[in-house]
Amino acid sequence: KPRVLSGIQPTSDSFHLGNYLGALRQWVALQDTADAFYMVVDLHAITVDHEPKVLHERSRVSAAQLMALGVDPERSALFVQSQVPEHPMLAWIMGAETGFGEASRMTQFKDKSAKQERTTVGLFTYPILQAADILLYQTDQVPVGEDQRQHLELTRDLAIRFNTAYGQTFTVPDAFIVKETATIKDLAEPAKKMSKSSASPRGCLYLLDEPNQMRKKIKSAVTDSDAEVRYDPEAKPGVSNLMNIYAALGNTTLEKLEAEYAGRGYGDFKGDLAEVVADSLGPIAARTKEYLADKAELDRVLAKGAEKARHVAARTLAKAYKKIGFFPPV
Ligand code: TYM
Repeated sequence: KPRVLSGIQPTSDSFHLGNYLGALRQWVALQDTADAFYMVVDLHAITVDHEPKVLHERSRVSAAQLMALGVDPERSALFVQSQVPEHPMLAWIMGAETGFGEASRMTQFKDKSAKQERTTVGLFTYPILQAADILLYQTDQVPVGEDQRQHLELTRDLAIRFNTAYGQTFTVPDAFIVKETATIKDLAEPAKKMSKSSASPRGCLYLLDEPNQMRKKIKSAVTDSDAEVRYDPEAKPGVSNLMNIYAALGNTTLEKLEAEYAGRGYGDFKGDLAEVVADSLGPIAARTKEYLADKAELDRVLAKGAEKARHVAARTLAKAYKKIGFFPPV
């Protein structure tokens, strides 16, 4: 079975449609065929402003949402990153292998630091911690959205560099990116990717939104003035984004959508998509709430996941220690 690993930041009260279609849906699907490790990356979340109580609760809400979406802790290791101390330790080692210039080229750092009043060293070294996350598990595939491709390239480069310098230690991972949904666009500004920092409250559709709110956001999504449901991401980014969302959630294809809505304008199309979205995502909020109702049980599930993860992570770390000339971990 291939080994799969991915992570998501607990930096908001709800995940959004971009997270879901770009990554989380693949997390759920891959459980059937892979040995999967999924984590809530709270170590990454502290690289920007955060409040301890809020972070703590969001980590739980994040785990509960993942379970509500179908991540099954019986089949996959579901855990919170800070409960596995091997992560920052391997990150330190990988940091010593990373060039300053190489790290400086990370575009997500440039984007994020531009938005911060004060940029931390942690934000700068964030991709190195991500590389450690992945390499600790001898990961074959990493299901993510397009915006993580560059971090995956860095991870591969570091793995190859370490293996070449010290002998075979890490599996060199591949990004697992589904083309059609690799970048879900902002509903209000379709030139940008959907993100929680959207300038417009209508731009980002959250998985825990009320169904009516979801419908409103879809119906008010920016399209264009030629009223033709046709897939053309360059000329018609708004409509094409909605079509990608429709195809993914409605189990249909772009061709079928074009045929179905030929000559009908955007009103029908958006109205139907609003129902598809509300039907498929609407139940997630209630399921999330159920998992959150028993916090002690949820925390137990996560501790068990962390134990499973540590078992694998500790083995890889010990191997890296030996290769690099450290004393073994005790
Ligand atoms: P994060 O928390 O920003 O996002 C989680 C996942 O959602 C994807 N995503 C999108 N996909 C399509 N369209 C969008 N508009 C969109 N917005 C977000 C992201 O690509 C991601 O897959 N650095 C990672 C977290 C991380 C990680 C890891 C991932 C830490 N360690 C190890 C994989 C492996 C991040 O910030 O994701």
